Amino acid sequence: MKNIISSTDLGRKEIEEIFSLASSIKKGKKVKAIRDKVVALAFFEPSTRTFTSFDVAAKRLGLQTTGFRSEHETSVAKEETFADTIRMLSSYADCLVIRHKFDGAAKFASQITNRPIINAGDGKREHPTQSLIDLYTVLNSFGKIDGLRYGIVGDLKYGRAVHSLLSMLTTFKPRHVHLISPRQLEMPKGFLKGLNYPYGETERLESVIGDVDVLYATRIQKERFPDEIEYNKVKESYRIDRDIVSRMKDKAIILHPLPRVTEISRDVDATEKAKYFEQAGNGVPIRMALYSKILGG
Ligand code: NCD
Repeated sequence: MKNIISSTDLGRKEIEEIFSLASSIKKGKKVKAIRDKVVALAFFEPSTRTFTSFDVAAKRLGLQTTGFRSEHETSVAKEETFADTIRMLSSYADCLVIRHKFDGAAKFASQITNRPIINAGDGKREHPTQSLIDLYTVLNSFGKIDGLRYGIVGDLKYGRAVHSLLSMLTTFKPRHVHLISPRQLEMPKGFLKGLNYPYGETERLESVIGDVDVLYATRIQKERFPDEIEYNKVKESYRIDRDIVSRMKDKAIILHPLPRVTEISRDVDATEKAKYFEQAGNGVPIRMALYSKILGG
C-alpha cells in the first residue's frame, strides 16, 4: 500500500487488515514503533478531528510530525504554488497527509512527489480515511458491514465524506442504500455510476427512517456553495431529533463525520443510537493502522 487518494485504492482484504489492526490497537496491543520518520500534515483547509487524530496517531507510533492547518500559515499566502509547497514538504518529510479545498489536490500531489500521500479530504471529491472510520464503527456496532440497510442524509452534492463512503461500500454488500437529500443537494450522477448495490433517492427522511440500520447524517457544506442565498434555502432541511430517533429500528445507529451544526439535535447525543463521538474516537486507531501499513515496512 502506498498512497490513499480514493476509497477505491483499497481492496476488501486491505480494509479488513486495517480494521483488524485497529482493533488490536484499541485492545491495547503494542504495535511496532516507527521511529526516525516524519509525517507532514499539510492542511490547507480547516480541520479539528482529522488533523488532531492524524497527529496523535503518528505520535503514538513514535513518528514525528510537522505541518500546518491553514494555508494562511504557509507561503501560499505569498502566492507560492501548491506544487512548489508539495515539492518542499517532500524533501522534509517521509509521508504527506493533505487536505485541500480543490477536488483532485491529493492526486495531483501524488504526481509531483514519490512520497506516500494520504488524502485527508480534497474539495467535494473524497475523504477515504473518513470512510474507513465510518465502516469500522459500523463493524463494531453490528459485527458486519454487509447485509445492512444504510440511509445517507443531508448534503449529498458537496459532501466528500459521503462520496467516499458510497464508493467504499462497493467493496462490501450493503442490502440497500437510501440517499436522502433536497433536490438541490442530490448525489451527482457521476458518483452513482459505479454502484453495484441497490439504492434509491428520496427527499423525505420520514419515508425511510424505519427501514435503516445505519443513518449517516451530514452537515450542509456551507463553504462549497457558490451563493449564500442558495445555502439559506436548504440549510435546515433535516433535523434528527428524539421524535425521528423513536421511529428508528431498535438496534439502528446514527453516524456523522462531524462537525454538526443543526442536523442532529443535542438531546439525541444521550441516546444509545448516537455513535458519532465513538466514530470520531476511532480516528486514532484507524489512522495508526494506516501509518503502520504505509510506513511500517
Ligand atoms: C468532514 C470533512 O471535512 O469533509 N469532516 C471530517 O473530516 N470529520 C465533514 C464536514 O466537514 O462536514
